[in-house]
Amino acid sequence: MSIPTLTLNNGVTLPALGLGVFQSPPEETAAAVDTALRVGYRHIDTAAMYRNEREVGEGLRRSGVPREEVFVETKVWVSDYGYDETRHAFEKAVAKLGIDRLDLLILHQPAPDRFERTIAAYRGLESLLAEGRVRAIGVSNFMPPHLHELMARTEVVPAVNQIELHPYFTQPEVQRADAEHGILDQAWSPIGGITFYPGWGEERRSVMDDPTLREMAAQHRRSAAQVMLRWHLQRGRSAIPKSTDPGRIAENFDVADFELTADELDRIDALDTGVRNGPDPDVARPERFDIAIPEA
Ligand SMILES: NC(=O)c1ccc[n+]([C@@H]2O[C@H](COP(=O)([O-])OP(=O)(O)OC[C@H]3O[C@@H](n4cnc5c(N)ncnc54)[C@H](OP(=O)(O)O)[C@@H]3O)[C@@H](O)[C@H]2O)c1
Repeated sequence: MSIPTLTLNNGVTLPALGLGVFQSPPEETAAAVDTALRVGYRHIDTAAMYRNEREVGEGLRRSGVPREEVFVETKVWVSDYGYDETRHAFEKAVAKLGIDRLDLLILHQPAPDRFERTIAAYRGLESLLAEGRVRAIGVSNFMPPHLHELMARTEVVPAVNQIELHPYFTQPEVQRADAEHGILDQAWSPIGGITFYPGWGEERRSVMDDPTLREMAAQHRRSAAQVMLRWHLQRGRSAIPKSTDPGRIAENFDVADFELTADELDRIDALDTGVRNGPDPDVARPERFDIAIPEA
């Protein structure tokens, strides 16, 4: 068995599993990307806001893996929303990454205090798609009302919606809306990172310590992280676990040769608490939204 390949609603394919790099310090990012590509990953998810696109590009080159074999995905930050601004954000991203085309470019989140600019930003993505500068476009953290308004006012149905999705928060209503429109769910914090990031609050309940997941992991002689990743893959989603540790990067990719039963998948679905850990996409955070993304 190998890692599944998924087909987007425009026919473009991608490996279901990718490496995430949120909070990967720039000085560790190139090594993490290089390690991941050597282990077999062929999909990397970064963002302008992570401030490590340059190092992702360095890791790509260092690995020696041909550019066309890797699916490179990045995100436009809110301060770059607007038609021309988003087109320029693309130029900044590709210059930092050191490549001339992106496989997937998505809006990092809806901006409720500037939704007109969010729409204009998406139109900018559509123009880049039409010009062949990006192979697919999409969104992140879009709730069904955001998606509906976007789709009513633009032409291209997003290929992907990247959302918080782990056993404690599965957003079934967003998954339903995505499925209705052929939009691929891509899980961020797929192994629940946001429930246990160091320094993010001791009161958080780590999904890694969940007794049901631990029991399943013991039964399969796997880790809880591997069980969660297997759950995403068998549910047909894309998942982009982050690690900068070579052992954990390899562990998270080593999920092709075991299978969860239908009952196990249902039991993991049932762990959903309905409680979001990340920021509420309906709340404007101007102090964060206004952070400027440097030129290349
Ligand atoms: N669109 C958005 O708004 C948004 C928001 C958040 C994240 N994301 C994307 O999604 C990616 C993944 O999400 P995430 O970083 O939030 O969380 P995650 O991938 O679920 O978890 C990452 C955390 O788990 C640790 N870890 C990794 N593998 C492990 C393993 N096998 N066993 C135990 N611990 C492990 C990592 O530390 P080590 O590095 O030390 O291994 C890190 O602290 C991000 O990197 C980013 O690309 C997008």
